[in-house]
Amino acid sequence: MTLPDDDGQAPGEPTVTIFADPDTLADGAAGRVADALVAAVERRGRADLATTGGSTPAPLYLRLVSSPLRERVPWAQLHIWWGDDRYVPRGHPLSNVFSVDEILLDEIHGVPIRDDHVHPWPVGRAIAEDLGPDWCADAYATEARADLPLDPAGVPAFDLVLLGIGPDGHLLSVFPGSAAIGSERLALGIPAPGLIEPHLPRVTFNPSILDATAAIMVMVAGAAKADVLARILGGPRLDPGSSDGLPAQLARRSSASWLLDAAAASRLGPRA
Ligand code: 6PG
Repeated sequence: MTLPDDDGQAPGEPTVTIFADPDTLADGAAGRVADALVAAVERRGRADLATTGGSTPAPLYLRLVSSPLRERVPWAQLHIWWGDDRYVPRGHPLSNVFSVDEILLDEIHGVPIRDDHVHPWPVGRAIAEDLGPDWCADAYATEARADLPLDPAGVPAFDLVLLGIGPDGHLLSVFPGSAAIGSERLALGIPAPGLIEPHLPRVTFNPSILDATAAIMVMVAGAAKADVLARILGGPRLDPGSSDGLPAQLARRSSASWLLDAAAASRLGPRA
């Protein structure tokens, strides 16, 4: 089944940039992130970044804390959010917040971000008070709606959403066949995925945040992602809500930049 166009408009194709290796990919991504944050502060006086989990962002964060980007990023006006998280407390190594705490907020080398500009999902409280993933998701949706500009559909508008993709074609914690697709809820608790590690429940924004954000950046590195990436970017658009769909195709749109290394891009074939 091909992806229906909700409003009859074609989503278009993203800008795809291929770098030689993971290092040059991280360099290119970090420069673009810094540019987007500076532009957001010039436009509206602050920059709201929704970042991602997995292994992809750490090399990016390392570049942001180092010269010359360290001096360029508007740290005082930066707000950091997460597109999704695993249902573990903030200090847990599997938390998507962990690498921000380790790299960006490290006490010695960290950067001057205000505590109240860091917006983790309230997973620690949800676990401690046995409130559950759905409570956590609703609380985060309320916080985002109160703190961010909203699009006409009431969806918070980030300045930049950073994404990785999974080997099954997921993005955020939106797995193939996910209840998040088409849900009215802005954020949802997600049961632990059976196929994808870590097998932990998640909390995630609805991918509708991609409709409201000013910019989307997807980073993909490594040969292990080459097959799924070829299907996501080169194959037919599948119904993202079906069990054999590829939710990452929701970021296959003209407002997105996909930054790949050569290994991940190796099965894409020639591109126009
Ligand atoms: C998560 C993520 C997820 C991640 C991709 C890519 O919580 O797991 O937010 O969407 O970005 O799975 O992960 P890697 O960067 O480790 O390949």
